Amino acid sequence: MRNKVTVVGAGNVGATLGQRVAERDYADVVLVDVIPDMPMGKALDILEAGPVLGYDSLVIGANGYDETAGSDIVVITSGIARKPGMSRDDLIRTNQGIVTQVTQEIVKRSPNAMLICVTNPLDAMAQLAYSVSGFPKQRVMGMAGVLDTARFRTFIAQELGVSVRDVQAFVLGGHGDTMVPLARLSTVAGVPLPKLIAEERLAQIVQRTRDGGAEIVNLLKQGSAYYAPSASVLQMIDSILLDKKMIMPCATYLEGEYGISGLFVGVPVKLGSKGVEEVIQLELSEDERAQLQKSADSVRELIGVMGI
Ligand code: APR
Repeated sequence: MRNKVTVVGAGNVGATLGQRVAERDYADVVLVDVIPDMPMGKALDILEAGPVLGYDSLVIGANGYDETAGSDIVVITSGIARKPGMSRDDLIRTNQGIVTQVTQEIVKRSPNAMLICVTNPLDAMAQLAYSVSGFPKQRVMGMAGVLDTARFRTFIAQELGVSVRDVQAFVLGGHGDTMVPLARLSTVAGVPLPKLIAEERLAQIVQRTRDGGAEIVNLLKQGSAYYAPSASVLQMIDSILLDKKMIMPCATYLEGEYGISGLFVGVPVKLGSKGVEEVIQLELSEDERAQLQKSADSVRELIGVMGI
């Protein structure tokens, strides 16, 4: 039997993800949205690309949740996206209500699912979904680190004129201005980044990575990034459903790792068929640890705003 992936929110990120999952041809896809008929239209359109591209994934759209029953993975992208000048944190009040309601509906029908949160502010929304669902921590996670790392790798590869495949990098922390791109532990074909790029230039690349989402929001004028975000979620889904056990940075619930407790923050984890199977503990310098702590503090502040 094929796996079942539900994507709640059939907007830019959700519909693009639906397309990407369908094209993988190992899972059926359900797209859910509150806009009448829209998810059905997008689902049918994706389904009708199957004969051309050669996939048999079943893709359906829905305005309710009955069709989502028995999902293996549920990705939550529903919510409002950023407009120019807005931070991810400005979205919190509206998106808190949406993510709460969506999680309740999902849990009723897919009690064994993995939840992947994409809605911003990411770490806070992942924590909200964890709290509302009552799921074990292994089955609730947020997508941010893969995207932030992809941006970092893109800029490094461009700077050095090498393949993105040769660039290994990690970005830790919350998905916001305080994220921590780890230049010291990033490598190109095994060579540490600080040996390849001068400190000042590296600092500019790190800053561009931190501002990567805003750079796209400003160019698009309406809406926020969705091609790279949906690709990043797809990689997480691949690792879980194919039990690849890839190590990638994801927002996960920490209980003492990295000196942080009771909070969702982005750190490297092993993703497999049981979800977050392990938190990988990197040895951080004093400065990196302090930056991660600062990032965790800003996530904690948002949790306080939500009152959970
Ligand atoms: N239930 C289901 N869908 C909902 C609900 C709800 N309660 N509320 C809103 N939606 C839908 C909207 O109708 C819309 O189609 O969520 C969709 C969001 O899509 P977009 O506005 O295109 O936003 P997108 O770019 O996909 O971003 C979604 O991901 O990256 C984050 O910050 C971003 O929080 C945002 C989320």
